[in-house]
Amino acid sequence: MTRTIDLAPSILSADFSRLGAEIEAVERGGATILHVDVMDGHFVPNITVGLPVVKSLARATKLPIDAHLMISEPGRYAEQFVAAGAKMVSVHIEADANVHRTLASIKAAGAQAGVVLNPATPVGSLDEALAFADYVLVMSVNPGFGGQSFIPTSIEKVRRLRAMIADRKLPTRIEIDGGIDSGNIAAVVDAGAEIIVAGSAIFGTADPEAAVRELREATVQWV
Ligand code: DX5
Ligand code: ZN
Repeated sequence: MTRTIDLAPSILSADFSRLGAEIEAVERGGATILHVDVMDGHFVPNITVGLPVVKSLARATKLPIDAHLMISEPGRYAEQFVAAGAKMVSVHIEADANVHRTLASIKAAGAQAGVVLNPATPVGSLDEALAFADYVLVMSVNPGFGGQSFIPTSIEKVRRLRAMIADRKLPTRIEIDGGIDSGNIAAVVDAGAEIIVAGSAIFGTADPEAAVRELREATVQWV
């Protein structure tokens, strides 16, 4: 079946002192989305970047910015990320007691709304929220750091989620994030993931442009 597969480099593993050049390289390689990891040192044990960086990036690239909010109570900031220029904003179901309200506010502000599941959070926890999300992000590592190993059970999790979405005849897309490389990308796409995040497999190499191309080539049979 032909599907649109989006490749979303995560800038977490990029050289922040030359972010503009790093982004141009992945654009040339065929990236279709730019994934920005926002961490607050509270929901996850790491601190990264926030609104000012998203604002600058939105001016510097034509790629849609996908803000992955790994922050507690993301409803406090979600709309501000849309205002800063993010076209996609995702929030962790574990971090938000009012996820339905937050998803609605992201959509009302004009962006796509995503809900994120940590590795230990079951697909069933989406039972009520699924219909309100434009996409579901399945974490295939525990969030907080780039360069961790892919958790293999994530493949079956994506499959179960895809079945749940099909069963309900929803248009929801599936994103996957964590430990993706040229060795496992085909398996996650085969399971149903359509937005593929990769950080260290792209920016951890000497040639990010070629790394994006290599990942794309591993998915050609689906596009
Ligand atoms: C992890 C982040 C990921 C990370 C992916 O908390 O959400 O987006 O940057 O990096 P890799 O591809 O190196 O696992
Ligand atoms: Zn991420």
